[in-house]
This record gives sequence, structure tokens and C-alpha cells, in this order.
Amino acid sequence: MIEEIQQYINEIESFHTTDVSETESFRIKFLGKKGILNELFSRFKDVPGPEKKEVGLALNLLKNAANNKLNSLRENTAAQDQKQEFTDFTQPGNPIENGSRHPVSIVRNRIIEIFKRIGFTLSSGPEIEDDWHNFTALNLPEYHPARDMQDTFFIEKDPDILLRTHTSSVQIRYMENQKPPIRILSPGRVYRNEAVSARSHAMFHQIEGLYIDKDVSFADLKQTLQYFTTELFGKSQIRLRPSYFPFTEPSAEVDVYWGLETETDYKITKGTGWLEIMGCGMVDPNVLQNVGIDPDTYSGYAFGMGIERIALLLYQIGDIRLYFENDVRFLEQFQAEFGW
Ligand code: PHE
Repeated sequence: MIEEIQQYINEIESFHTTDVSETESFRIKFLGKKGILNELFSRFKDVPGPEKKEVGLALNLLKNAANNKLNSLRENTAAQDQKQEFTDFTQPGNPIENGSRHPVSIVRNRIIEIFKRIGFTLSSGPEIEDDWHNFTALNLPEYHPARDMQDTFFIEKDPDILLRTHTSSVQIRYMENQKPPIRILSPGRVYRNEAVSARSHAMFHQIEGLYIDKDVSFADLKQTLQYFTTELFGKSQIRLRPSYFPFTEPSAEVDVYWGLETETDYKITKGTGWLEIMGCGMVDPNVLQNVGIDPDTYSGYAFGMGIERIALLLYQIGDIRLYFENDVRFLEQFQAEFGW
């Protein structure tokens, strides 16, 4: 009898089907009222005493094997059934998620688009820079105190190599290789050795502009900036506050009159109505000399702004970290206007 039981176990283990009626036949054959298991159990009483234990164990194994198999066959056929149920060709398709542009990209593209209309083209450069392009050529010689204005990440083994702290380095590279007139925008990532907080980040984006030609004046700069703030924010009132940058002389901070219409206006302008949006100035003659452009023939202006800061104003989102956490729930709220 043991052998017979073992054969049935083998049969059960090698049996497979996904068909519902074959599954039912399996059940009847082994587990039905007149099935094999009942038949074997009824013969059990005739098994001689000493063999009872062994045969009983084998019978239980057979019973478990049959039940387990039946369960797994039923799962299979149920899944099969469900698949059939879902083949409903009248159902709408699964929606495809639309991606959206990152808010920093949207704002960058808007800024580029505004300056493109007045003849600026794009220029890019490496994020890992050397001291010359990031500092020295920009009128920041070694030990110049203004180097401390921009906390720098240096490559430990070679202090001549660093992560650029601004995209002014791109302007140096461009001027070294091109003759004026020059009218470029350089957007890109920049790095500063600062603790991450709601207001600052060790990496952020800048966009800087440079215009070099004969007879470029401070009035040209002011006019260009006013055009820019009008186009971007719809605000045309600006003021230029005297400031200091080593690479520009004179230098200024640009404030835009934001207004004091809403509570948020009060908050973001600290009750003054004015917002600082960028730095600018006339390119220092020393910088022109450093890149082989004659400062007696040419002059120019430069300006630079942080893209996240502009995004903060446009979207009223004050925590810079949100722009870098890349939480889709945050990112998908920004819609680029057509073409940006
Ligand atoms: N490079 C300056 C900065 O990162 C910004 C700037 C650019 C200022 C051009 C003046 C002119 O702070």
C-alpha cells in the first residue's frame, strides 16, 4: 500500500493544469466522495497493526499533497479568470503621467528668452574650475579679502582646482577666446561651502550676463535691467544701490519695486516694497586687460542673479530646499508656458 500511495503522491506533484474543468476532475479523482483518498482511508482499517503507523503517515502526506495542489491549481485558474475579465476593450487605457519641467528650468528658460530678444546668446563652461577663471582673472588675486565673500569648495590635493562659485568664470573663458562685440548669458550650477538651510544651499543656479562693445555705458545697463524686470515680473521700477564686486566698477545691487499691495508683499519685502534681485556693474578695466581686451577701446557691463531666488519671487516659495528634494508632488505643480 505504501508504494501505491507514493505513486499517487508522484502523480499529484507532477500534475499541472490551468483549465477549470481539469482542476475539478483532479478534485473529484483524489478528494471526491468516491475519490482515491476516501478509498484508501477505508482500506486503512485492514492494514496490519505493525504497519499502521507508517501507512498512516503516508496517507497524511498524500492528503496534504492533494489539498495543496488543489489550492494552487485554483489560484492559477482564478488568476486566469481575472485576466479574462479584464480584457474589456471598451475600457479607457491606463493614463500616461505627463512630466513637467523643473521650476528652476522654467525660470531659467524665461530669463534666457527675455535676453535672447535683445541679442544675447548662451555660453557655458566647466563646473570644476581653476583659480584663474574663477578668481584671479576676475580681479581677485590671491589673498584678496573679497575671496571670502564666496566660500569655496577646493579640491584638497590641488588648491588651484575648485568648484566654481559663480558663472562669471564662463565670461572669462568666453572673452579669452572671442573678440568684442560680446553679448552672452551664462546659466549654470554654482557651488558654495555653506550649510544647507531654507535660504542657502551648497549648490544653486546662477545666470550671468555680459555685454562688451565700444561705448557701452552704465545707462545701457540700467535700461537693459529695466527691460528685464518689466518682462519678467511686470514691474518696471528699479533702483541701483552702490555696492562692491571686485570684477565690476562701479558696482551695484539691483532692487525692483515689488509693491506693498498684499500681506505677502509686506512679508517678502520686509515692509519696504523693494526686493534685491541681482548684482551688476561695469566690467572692471583690469578684467578686460586680463583677457586681452583693450579697456581704452572697449567697455561693458555684467550682471548676475540666482535662479532659485528669482523662482522664489515668481512662485512665492521661500524654502530653497524644496527645489532640490525633487518630490514629484512639488515639481508637478509648475507648468511651463508654451515653448519654455
Ligand atoms: N558673480 C557675482 C556673484 O556671484 C554676481 C555678479 C555678476 C555681480 C556680475 C556683478 C556682475 O555674486
